[in-house]
Amino acid sequence: MNAIKFLVNIFFAICFMNLLLFKANASDNLSLNLNHESPEEHEHSNSFDEENRVKYVGAVLEYEPFNKWSEEGKGFEVLRKNSRTIVKFAEKAKFYNADIIIAPECGVQSFYMFHNNTENFLTFTQYVPDPSLRMVVCDQEEEPDNKYEAIKILSCGSLANEIYIVANLAEFEPCSEEKIDQTLPWRYEIQENCPKKGYFIYNTQVVFDRKGAVIARYRKQNLYHEPLFTPGSNNSEAIFITDFNVAFTLQICFDIVHWNPGFANVKKYGIRDVAMSTAWFDTLPFYLANGVENGFSRGLGVNLLVSGYHRPEEGNLGSGIFKGYAMDNTSLYSFDENFRERVTSSVCGYSSSFEFTFTTNSSRERRKSP
Ligand SMILES: *[C@@H]1O[C@H](CO)[C@@H](O)[C@H](O)[C@H]1NC(C)=O
Ligand SMILES: *[C@@H]1O[C@H](CO)[C@@H](O)[C@H](O)[C@H]1NC(C)=O
Ligand SMILES: *[C@@H]1O[C@H](CO)[C@@H](O)[C@H](O)[C@H]1NC(C)=O
Ligand SMILES: *[C@@H]1O[C@H](CO)[C@@H](O)[C@H](O)[C@H]1NC(C)=O
Ligand SMILES: *[C@@H]1O[C@H](CO)[C@@H](O)[C@H](O)[C@H]1NC(C)=O
Repeated sequence: MNAIKFLVNIFFAICFMNLLLFKANASDNLSLNLNHESPEEHEHSNSFDEENRVKYVGAVLEYEPFNKWSEEGKGFEVLRKNSRTIVKFAEKAKFYNADIIIAPECGVQSFYMFHNNTENFLTFTQYVPDPSLRMVVCDQEEEPDNKYEAIKILSCGSLANEIYIVANLAEFEPCSEEKIDQTLPWRYEIQENCPKKGYFIYNTQVVFDRKGAVIARYRKQNLYHEPLFTPGSNNSEAIFITDFNVAFTLQICFDIVHWNPGFANVKKYGIRDVAMSTAWFDTLPFYLANGVENGFSRGLGVNLLVSGYHRPEEGNLGSGIFKGYAMDNTSLYSFDENFRERVTSSVCGYSSSFEFTFTTNSSRERRKSP
């Protein structure tokens, strides 16, 4: 096999967070601090509190996932290669002291999972354990049928590099007796609203902590012409708290122009940091990735870390780190369709910290624009 062809772009930035809000429960306890602020206080969320800031290094990855279907490899090979790629770049990010790295929407299964039969399609999906189990999938036995191989690769990658990884994939959730697989190391319940086929498929962001545990599983609510997926409905599942005392809300692509879950979690709980995976389609006149993202970050006064799918010929590109919480307008945004080698550094508004980008220029035959 030839080396995988992909393009990669990683951004880092130091982001700041108000320590007061979350320091009491850096661990797993959401109930404590997320309820004690009144919504009025958040209207002034732009009053950046320099003294109590928390510093962390965020990284977002933009790349074009491997997407070649083969009868032998099926979707599983696509999932395996892309999750390994994400881990490879988590390792690079760790080298630059990143605490968290975000990967794009469809970054594991690629855009090309829509195969012509159900059996093929399902090979692009994965089981994802319930985050309340805090399961370190890396510790599980090798599983023969690729049921959670990509999850395991990502779990091992976050553990080995002691970094938070936020990835996005197509999740398989069985809900009928017939479809529930009793050999899995975690259990599924039979559900009353289970469709005839016996399962749901979600567009899911999965978060791994530094120990490789699955700590969040957010199912996209505002789908954008994605008939194969069932929308999720729970804003709380989008929230996770890190060991650097920062609470994040997740959101996926089109969610950014809706109330749920990001906007609501910011307004309701005072969350200041948003981790977004996207495969954005730039659409004239106003739905251009950078404008929407920058607007969200500045308007709400939150840090927004966005990882986008790179496929410029279809209008999919643009990743960035927007530091609206610090009202720091020097956001870092990628729009370069040709990704050349690039390292840049600059100074953040609120300290002598640094930020930089680097890109690889792995070969790819450029496709013609349609
Ligand atoms: C969460 O915090 C509350 C209040 O401090 C405490 O009573 C509860 O035991 C904590 N739950 C967990 C799971 O730590
Ligand atoms: C289904 O898709 C696969 C992969 O693209 C292709 O090899 C196969 O010929 C297709 N089958 C039909 C019936 O279209
Ligand atoms: C929503 O998600 C949270 C966090 O995962 C969970 O505790 C809660 O039970 C969920 N609520 C519903 C209605 O499923
Ligand atoms: C940042 O942007 C805001 C809103 O557009 C503006 O009011 C402010 O002056 C800008 N700050 C700097 C330092 O440019
Ligand atoms: C970048 O691409 C150029 C042209 O293909 C190549 O000569 C160079 O070695 C590449 N650099 C890296 C670091 O891969």
